[in-house]
Amino acid sequence: MRGSFACGVAPLLLTLILAPAATTTFFSLPSPWGYRCDVGRCIKEDNTGVEDLVTLNTCKLTCGPFGVLWPQPKSATVGKEVVQFLPSNITHKTSCAPAVCELLEQAVVIFKDNLQRYHPDYAAGLTPWKGPWGPATVGHTLNLDVTVNTDATRLSLETDESYSLSVSTTGQTTTAIIITATYFGARHALETLSQLVEYQEYQDSLMIVSTAEVSDSPVFKYRGLILDTSRNFIGVEAIERTLDTMAANKLNSFHWHITDSHSFPLYLESLPKMSYYGAYSSRHVYYPADIRHLVEYGRVRGVRVLPEFDAPAHVGNGWQWTEKEEGLGKLAVCVNREPWQSYCVEPPCGQLNLANPNMYKLLGQIYDEMVQLFSPLDLFHYGGDEVNLNCWNTTAEIVAWMTENNNGLDADAYYVQWGTFQERARQLLTTANGEKEVTGILWTSHLTEAGHVDRFLNNSQYIIQIWTTGDDPVIGELLKKNYRVIFSTYDSWYLDCGMGAWVGEGNNWCSPYKGWQKVYDFSPYEIAINQTGADQRDLIMGGEAALWTEQVDDTAVDSKLWPRGAALAERLWTNPSANWKPAETRFIHNRQRLVKRGVMAERIQPEWCHQNEGLCYL
Ligand SMILES: *[C@@H]1O[C@H](CO)[C@@H](O)[C@H](O)[C@H]1NC(C)=O
Ligand SMILES: *[C@@H]1O[C@H](CO)[C@@H](O)[C@H](O)[C@H]1NC(C)=O
Ligand SMILES: *[C@@H]1O[C@H](CO)[C@@H](O)[C@H](O)[C@H]1NC(C)=O
Ligand SMILES: *[C@@H]1O[C@H](CO)[C@@H](O)[C@H](O)[C@H]1NC(C)=O
Repeated sequence: MRGSFACGVAPLLLTLILAPAATTTFFSLPSPWGYRCDVGRCIKEDNTGVEDLVTLNTCKLTCGPFGVLWPQPKSATVGKEVVQFLPSNITHKTSCAPAVCELLEQAVVIFKDNLQRYHPDYAAGLTPWKGPWGPATVGHTLNLDVTVNTDATRLSLETDESYSLSVSTTGQTTTAIIITATYFGARHALETLSQLVEYQEYQDSLMIVSTAEVSDSPVFKYRGLILDTSRNFIGVEAIERTLDTMAANKLNSFHWHITDSHSFPLYLESLPKMSYYGAYSSRHVYYPADIRHLVEYGRVRGVRVLPEFDAPAHVGNGWQWTEKEEGLGKLAVCVNREPWQSYCVEPPCGQLNLANPNMYKLLGQIYDEMVQLFSPLDLFHYGGDEVNLNCWNTTAEIVAWMTENNNGLDADAYYVQWGTFQERARQLLTTANGEKEVTGILWTSHLTEAGHVDRFLNNSQYIIQIWTTGDDPVIGELLKKNYRVIFSTYDSWYLDCGMGAWVGEGNNWCSPYKGWQKVYDFSPYEIAINQTGADQRDLIMGGEAALWTEQVDDTAVDSKLWPRGAALAERLWTNPSANWKPAETRFIHNRQRLVKRGVMAERIQPEWCHQNEGLCYL
C-alpha cells in the first residue's frame, strides 16, 4: 500500500509517515480535519480515525467527474485513487517530427516546473527547483509517452488541438500516454496531466490519480485575451506570466493592442523616432528582441501572439516627429488636441492624416517591420474603431483635400474615405507579407453598421470583432451576411469595468464589474441562435476578454485578468450547457493552482468555502 492510497485510507497510517522536512511547524500532522467525497462534493469532517478520511487535495483530485480539471474536458474518467511520486522521478519519451520534438522537450520542462510549483515552499527564480521534497516516495516514477502525428509547429485557425491522454499505474510506475495530431494538442495534454497532480502534504510529495482517460478538443478555434500596452506599459515579465497563465487555461490567442494614442512603446528599427517620441520613457519600450522572444514564448505554450496596429483612429503620440522632417509633414492630426471631447472618445486624441500620402508610406513601413517581428502571421488586427469625423472635418488640410477631390464633407463622404484607407492598409499589409494575403480582424465600427458593412469590407478578407453589447442587432446582421466574428462584448467580457472613473468622478464607463459568473455564462452560440435562429458555429471563431489598461499596469494585470480569464477559457474550450454553478468548486481550485504558479489571481471567496465545498451559496 505504500505510495498508493485509496480515496479513503485511514489517517492512522499517516501518523507513521514522516512530517515534512525543512519546515518549522507548531502543528503535528495529521490535521484534526479530513475529507470524504460524498456525491461529487468534498465534506470536511473531524479526523477521528473512525472514518476513511483523506486530505483536501486528495479529495479534490478524485471527487466529482472532472476532479479539478480546468477547463472541463469534453470527456474524462478520473480514477478514485492516487499514488505518490517526486518531480525528479519523471521520465519521458516522444515520437514526433524533429521540429515538434524540439518543442515537446520545452513543453516537458515547463510541465516539470509547473509540478515543482505545487510545493508550498517553491522558490521562484531557482529553476529547476530542487526541493526540499520528502524522501518517502522516491520509488515511484511517472513516465510520459507522447506521440504527435503531424509536423505542424505554427498555430492557425485550422490547427487540430485535440488530444487523448491515458494514465495507468502498475506497481511503482505510472504511465501517461498522450496521442495527438499536433504539438498543440500534446501541450494541452500536458496541462491536463499537470491538473491530475497535486501536493500531498503528509508525504511532502506529489500525488497523481492512478488512472484517468481524457479525450478532449476545444469547441472554439479562437480563444483569447486582449492586452493594451499603450494606456499603460506592461512589462515583458508580466506578459510572459500572462502567456503562461493563458497556456494553463488552454487559451490560444494573445491579442496585443500595442499602440494607441497615449503612447507608442513599439521600437521599430526603420522608424526609431516613433517610440523615441511616443514611448513614456526609454524603459517603456518593446525592442525587437523582446517581441521575438514573446512570440516564441507564446508558440511554445500554444499561444499565438497576434499584433494589433490600431488605425486610422487611436493613433497620436509618437507621430509628432514627422512634422519636423523635411518632406514628410503632419501624418497624424488632432494629436493631443483639446477639448478632447470634440475630437475623440478619451484623452488624448489623434487620427491619421488621410490627406498626406506620406502617411501610407509610413504605415507600409510599420507593417513591414511588424510582419517581420511577428512572423509568420496567420492573422493581423487592423483595429479600425472609433473614428471621430469631427477631428478630420475640423482639420484644414483634410477639409481642403476632401474639397479638392470633390468628395464632399458629409458623414458618408468621410466613411467612404475611411473605407478606402482600410483597403489601402490591407494592400500594404499584403505587400509587407510578401504578397501573401493575411486574414484581417477589425473592430465593429461605423463601417460595420447595419447596411454599411458589405459596402466597405469583404467577408473573405476580414473577421469582425464585436465589442458592443450582446443584444446588438449588428451581430445578427454580420452573421447573416456570412462574416466570421470574434466576440468581445463589453457588457460581459471587458475586464477593466467597475472601477472609479479616471476622467471625472463616479464609476468608469462600462461599470459595473463583470464577475466571473457573468464571464462564464455569456454564450456566443446562444446570442447567434437568438438573433439568427442558428448557432452559426462555422462563423463564430470564438472570443476574447479585453483588458484595457487605463487603470492597470504591472501591479494589477494578474488580478484583473485572473481568474476571470479562466472563466472565459472554459466557455470557449468547453461551451458548457450548464451555468457557472456546477463549475464553481473547480473554478476556485483552479484559482488556487494559478496562485501556486506565481499568478496574483484575485481571490473569489474565503478559504473556508474552498474547504467546505458547496456551503457558500445563496
Ligand atoms: C528518483 O529520483 C531520485 C533523485 O534524482 C533518484 O535518486 C532515484 O533513483 C529516482 N528513483 C527512480 C525509481 O527513478
Ligand atoms: C463638416 O463641416 C461642414 C461645415 O464646415 C459641415 O457642413 C459638414 O456637415 C461637416 N461634416 C460632418 C461629418 O460633420
Ligand atoms: C473578396 O476577397 C476575396 C479574397 O481576397 C477575393 O477573391 C474576392 O474577389 C473579393 N471580392 C470582392 C467583391 O472584391
Ligand atoms: C434573446 O432575445 C430576447 C429578445 O430580444 C432577449 O430578451 C433575450 O435576453 C435574448 N437572449 C440572449 C441570450 O441574448
